[in-house]
Amino acid sequence: MKVGIAGTGRMGSAMAQRLMSVGHELTVWNRTPDKTRELAAAGAAVAASPAALAEKVEVVLTILTDDKAIAALYNGPGGLLSGRVAGKLFIEMSTVRPEVEVALAKKVAAKGAALVECPVGGTTGPAREGKLFGFAGGEDADMARARPLLEQLCRRVEHVGPAGAGARMKLAVNLPLYVYWQALGEALLLCRSLNLDPERLISIFSDTSGASNVIKMRGASVAAHLAGADAGPATMNVDMVCKDLRTMVEEAKALGGALPAAEAALKCFEDAARGGLGQHDQSALPARWADRIRT
Ligand SMILES: NC(=O)c1ccc[n+]([C@@H]2O[C@H](COP(=O)([O-])OP(=O)(O)OC[C@H]3O[C@@H](n4cnc5c(N)ncnc54)[C@H](OP(=O)(O)O)[C@@H]3O)[C@@H](O)[C@H]2O)c1
Repeated sequence: MKVGIAGTGRMGSAMAQRLMSVGHELTVWNRTPDKTRELAAAGAAVAASPAALAEKVEVVLTILTDDKAIAALYNGPGGLLSGRVAGKLFIEMSTVRPEVEVALAKKVAAKGAALVECPVGGTTGPAREGKLFGFAGGEDADMARARPLLEQLCRRVEHVGPAGAGARMKLAVNLPLYVYWQALGEALLLCRSLNLDPERLISIFSDTSGASNVIKMRGASVAAHLAGADAGPATMNVDMVCKDLRTMVEEAKALGGALPAAEAALKCFEDAARGGLGQHDQSALPARWADRIRT
C-alpha cells in the first residue's frame, strides 16, 4: 500500500521503519528535512511538501508534538488538506486533547476524506517491532479501513468510540505512568541509604507491588541512571512528558474536575526540565529524585 508519514520525529521514524519492513511503499515529509535522511537511504521517498505527500499516497499517518504542530501540518497553503484529498484516509496519532481530534475530523470530512485518530502506548522500540497499543477513535467504516495498517503497528488496537475517544483513553492511560515515575523516585529516595546495587534494587521493585508495567520495559534504564551509566538515547523525553501532563490537567479542568496527583507530578517534571533534563528520557526522573538526599 502507498503510505505517507508526515512528521518523522522519534515515533514517526520508528513507525516508518516498521511499515517499510512489512512491505509498504513509503513516502515521508518532515519540517526539519535532516530527519528524513536515514529513511530515504532505507528506500523511502521524500515529498516536497505535506500537500505533495497527501496527493501521492492512499493513507497518511501523522504523529506530532502537539495541537500547534497538527494545525501547522494539516492547515494552510501546502498543508496536508490543501490539495485534492477526497477519498483518502488520515490516521492522526499524536497525544493531544480530544477536542483537537474532533475538530480535525470535521475538517478532514469537509474535504471528502476520512480521519481515524489513534494515539499509541509504547515507545520507539515497540513502534519498530509493531508492538504498540493503539487507542482508536472514529467511525466504524473508517476504522475498518484503518485497522489492517494499525494492526501492523500495534500488538493491540482498541476502538474506544468516535473521534476524540482515542485521545481521551490515551491521556488516561499515561496519567498513572507519569505519577508512577515520581512515586518511584520517592521510593528510591527512601531506600538509597541501603546502597544496594541498582539492578538488584530495580529487580526487587519489579517483583513486588512496587512495580508498574513500565518497569518491565524500562527498569534497565532506571538502573543505568541510578548507576550513573549510559542509559541510551531518549525515547520519550521529559519535555514531552510535561506537555502530556499539562494536556491532562487542561482536560480535567474543562471537565470540571481536578488531578492533584498529576499536577504534583507535573511540577516535579517541570523542575527536572528546568534543571536541564528536558531532552533526557523520562526514565531519568526517579534517579534524579532519589539523588536529592545523596551526600
Ligand atoms: N516518544 C515516545 O515514546 C512516544 C510514545 C507515545 C506517544 N508519543 C507521542 O507522539 C508524539 C510525537 O512524539 P515524538 O517523541 O516522536 O516527538 P519528536 O521526536 O519530538 O517529533 C515531533 C514531530 O513533530 C514535528 N513538529 C513539531 N512541531 C511542528 C510544527 N509546528 N510544524 C511541523 N511539524 C512539527 C517535528 O518536526 P521537526 O523534526 O521539524 O521538529 C517532529 O516530526 C507526541 O504527541 C508524543 O506525546 C511519544
